[in-house]
Amino acid sequence: MVSRVVAEEAPGWPAADVPKTFYIETFGCQMNVHDSEKVRGLLEARGYSQVPSPEKAGMLLYNTCSIRDKAEQKVFSRLAGLKRRSSGKTIGVLGCAAQHNGEAIFKQAPHVDFVCGSASYNALPTILDRVESGESGVTGLHLDTNETFDTPRIERDRPYSAFITIIEGCDKNCAYCVVPFTRGPERSRESGAVMAEARDLAGRGYTEVTLLGQTVNSYRDPSPPGWSFARLLDEIGRLPRIRRVRFTTSHPGDFSADIVSAIDGNPSLCDWVHLPVQSGSNSVLRAMRRTYSRDQYLRRVAMLKAAGRTIELSTDIIVGFPGETERDFEETLSLLDEVEYASVYSFKYSPRKGTSAAEMPQVPEQEKGRRLRELQERQRRIQLRRNAALIGREEEALVERRNRKYGQWVGRTSQNRVLNFTDPSALAPDRDLRGTYCQVRVTASGPNSLVGELVSAESQPAFHGLHVLN
Ligand code: 5AD
Ligand code: SF4
Repeated sequence: MVSRVVAEEAPGWPAADVPKTFYIETFGCQMNVHDSEKVRGLLEARGYSQVPSPEKAGMLLYNTCSIRDKAEQKVFSRLAGLKRRSSGKTIGVLGCAAQHNGEAIFKQAPHVDFVCGSASYNALPTILDRVESGESGVTGLHLDTNETFDTPRIERDRPYSAFITIIEGCDKNCAYCVVPFTRGPERSRESGAVMAEARDLAGRGYTEVTLLGQTVNSYRDPSPPGWSFARLLDEIGRLPRIRRVRFTTSHPGDFSADIVSAIDGNPSLCDWVHLPVQSGSNSVLRAMRRTYSRDQYLRRVAMLKAAGRTIELSTDIIVGFPGETERDFEETLSLLDEVEYASVYSFKYSPRKGTSAAEMPQVPEQEKGRRLRELQERQRRIQLRRNAALIGREEEALVERRNRKYGQWVGRTSQNRVLNFTDPSALAPDRDLRGTYCQVRVTASGPNSLVGELVSAESQPAFHGLHVLN
């Protein structure tokens, strides 16, 4: 018998082919995904080029998340794994875990050359100057409240759908959350700059934009037009060639009736709202410092449900927040039944350093796990039932990618449901449908997605650069 020894890990990676190459890996939310697009633009403007794997890159960047302990541990284990293999490479840690852990990162991972927090991207060019001249241990950790929006160049991942930052930071101070510490205080961007970016994107063939902010609907225009969030939404939705406008994440406390009227009156605004509730129990909401009660939240939901077209809702829920009793948890379950969300992101509470909830008496881990499973099962049944009711309907999908294994195209409906579909009559056998809007008949459904058949496809989208898609 021939035995083969397979090395678990390559002993060391080869030196970079080209000196100015970088690899970037992004963890966490859409805000981080978009920050990485900004970092990429900045690096490419400095003459760097991106490579798809760490082996051949001269610089390795990790844009990190610290919202829950698991996310942060993932980053540290990635850094630990690099220790032996990355000699000669520059390593940078960006984002929320960089901000949250600061210089402690160098202690835990001495091979890291620089850390730059998510509110300090302004400082990145200076940091890179120092790193390029051979310095290590460089930090950019100020919670910089200066204008950080108008990055000179953004290299976006997709040529048809774009993120636009309209508000940074958060002033809400929920008892469990690190975001106010990692991203700094809330600051809105001038409406003129937002509109200019949206117009430029439309001119370059983008048809979908997603407005981003930790509390996106708390947006208040700091410049003279003084637009409300609803006005900004409506104006962007009226731009020629913009077909879909989304926004995330909304805070229920600031969710006003004019937002619903804007969605109702403007078909370009998607009929989907992500409205994190976190808990269905008043006492937990109070302890979380969420600023609204269950009833106030449900009134916002009623307002959305009373709109002229069906606006679908999704939410975030934390189970096992300190002090959450079985009864509190049951109130969250009953809220799921009452609202019937299209989807729910649910998490076990994770204590975060520096937040007040981390000091409170904790719910045992096993109990959190049980509650999470129970909640997910309850919601799964709701989604199964609701998605099955869509069978037979025709939906419009913006196509995101091809799933070669199943011979399907993967798109998203305006209501943010994933729709996998085939082209049974070979309407467009050789056509690349990515970035196009397709009419699709729904033929089957599961808890998390729909399945369908193409009815009609549009002509090719007006953008170039599909090479970035796979
Ligand atoms: N533990 C668990 N989940 C959290 N979230 C934020 N902080 C924590 C935490 N400490 C969840 C909230 C938020 C989503 C982005 O992450 O539900 O809406
Ligand atoms: Fe965190 Fe609360 Fe701000 Fe959301 S609103 S980012 S949960 S502090």
